[in-house]
Amino acid sequence: MSEEQNKNIGNEPGYDIDTITNQRLIKGHVYDGIYELDNDLPPWWKWLFYISILFLAVYLIRLFFTEAPDLRQIEEYNKELAAVQAKAPAAADFQLVLLTDEASLTAGKTIWEGQCGACHLASGAGIVGPNMTDDYWIHGNTLEELFAVVENGVLEKGMIPYRDQLSPQQRLQVISYMLSLHGTNPVNPKEAQGEMIEWPY
Ligand code: HEC
Repeated sequence: MSEEQNKNIGNEPGYDIDTITNQRLIKGHVYDGIYELDNDLPPWWKWLFYISILFLAVYLIRLFFTEAPDLRQIEEYNKELAAVQAKAPAAADFQLVLLTDEASLTAGKTIWEGQCGACHLASGAGIVGPNMTDDYWIHGNTLEELFAVVENGVLEKGMIPYRDQLSPQQRLQVISYMLSLHGTNPVNPKEAQGEMIEWPY
């Protein structure tokens, strides 16, 4: 069917009718002799379209003209943040001060005997690692200095860092227990290492 023929088909003004399918043709949409049908959109598609317009209208009204916090990201974020903060333990109030309460010392003893005793002995007398009951210290005996040794270890001498294995609180517990062994005169103490430092506690 030529373009010329097709133009004369159909009697509705505005568009022509395809002779084969009997459907409307879109005027002027002819490409290499192929004509485009002016089909209606399927009802399900149209309804989806209308419903989405309705949804948009409701959404925009709620967003701009009502207080709908669930639609605003910043408010949603703040709400979730508040919920998380409420659950978190009171912002880690960790302080580097010698622990003397029984619960902390018991926890420290468990860590000391389980993880440090192999090198420092449960009694603190020292074997691979130095004696912890005397007045001689290699790295100093302030809480800061001891804390740093336990945190970073002394790898070249064989002591691993406990940064990942013990929490700050656990490090403080084990150091506090270790210091409680000072002056206990255990059997077979290791010879003094480091310098004599006055006992600061
Ligand atoms: C594998 C053996 C080993 C283990 C396990 C070990 N240490 Fe040590 N530690 C050493 C050695 C060796 C030194 C001496 C480092 C040096 O000469 O500088 C040392 C030194 C220290 C010092 C510094 C002593 C000073 O005189 O300045 C502290 C404090 C200490 N250890 C605490 C601990 C604690 C607490 C633990 C357990 C959580 C622990 N160590 C586990 C081997 C060990």
